[in-house]
Amino acid sequence: MTSDDAVAGHRLTQQLGWPHTEQDWAFHLAQGRGWAAVDRDETVIGTALLWFYGDHDGTLGLVIVDKAFRGKGVARTLMEQVLEAAGARKIRLVATEMAVQLYRNLGFASPNNIKIAQRQGVIARSTPMAINDGSIVRLAREDDYACIRTLDRNAVGMDRSGVINSLLTSATSYVLEREGSVIGCVLVRDSGHGKTFGPLVSSNQTDAKLLLSQAVSEHPGFCRIDVPEDAKALGIWLEQNGLSLVDRGTLMQNFDDKLRKTLSCKMYSLISQALI
Ligand SMILES: CC(C)(COP(=O)(O)OP(=O)(O)OC[C@H]1O[C@@H](n2cnc3c(N)ncnc32)[C@H](O)[C@@H]1OP(=O)(O)O)[C@@H](O)C(=O)NCCC(=O)NCCS
Repeated sequence: MTSDDAVAGHRLTQQLGWPHTEQDWAFHLAQGRGWAAVDRDETVIGTALLWFYGDHDGTLGLVIVDKAFRGKGVARTLMEQVLEAAGARKIRLVATEMAVQLYRNLGFASPNNIKIAQRQGVIARSTPMAINDGSIVRLAREDDYACIRTLDRNAVGMDRSGVINSLLTSATSYVLEREGSVIGCVLVRDSGHGKTFGPLVSSNQTDAKLLLSQAVSEHPGFCRIDVPEDAKALGIWLEQNGLSLVDRGTLMQNFDDKLRKTLSCKMYSLISQALI
């Protein structure tokens, strides 16, 4: 795919009622590479995208086949190309209910059985949570960027510096600072129907709430956040704050590694289900 295919990709997500804008498509395409299936008239009828992080990791997503062409092996053919390009890399993805079997057939599994909750809603202007241990949530400065990249890498176990750098140029980014150290971050960007909050990295759910409460208070309106469902306290807090559960995906991978349990800080919200 080339950057011009963002229009065709957008058409496919619209057919599904997914919220991606053409800009979201262009952003995702620019970070990785994509394969398109076309019909006899060269009209795009299917897509699959792949992103590389460092030398050993990657994610895939935006695997979509036009309704009129489903059940004919289009997705499988696209996936074979994608997986050949991925080679020996460890690949992760978030599968919709409809696609779980497709990925299982291709060797993906969900060893930790982590579900990703898509939460969204319209948020009123609010007051951020009070902090009484001397910590602060503040806007990130350029000299925080290296720390944000490190936090992200420690949380996901992949070096996503390229994508994080791209986000930092346009997102509003917040950091949580405690005793002089930056220990958490959240990036807020325009996406879909409003703002998307992610990645959100912190060492626990209480800190995740502090970051989000500040970010949400300054971005009233339509918000979306994709949260691992095992962060139960965070899920309850989001529900109470108007971010309802609208869908659920399954985190899958094609390697055997219960990585998430060993990480020092955690990713409490995804960049997107595609970029994870
Ligand atoms: C999921 C989707 C991409 C599958 O596309 P497709 O072209 O119809 O799939 P294929 O015909 O190539 O099927 C490939 C394999 O997946 C299986 N499969 C596909 N859709 C399935 C479904 N809904 N339920 C069970 N199995 C399914 C097929 O049985 C087939 O198995 P096989 O290769 O072992 O014979 C398509 O239904 C779609 O676009 N859905 C909406 C978007 C979406 O949810 N994308 C996934 C994002 S993670």
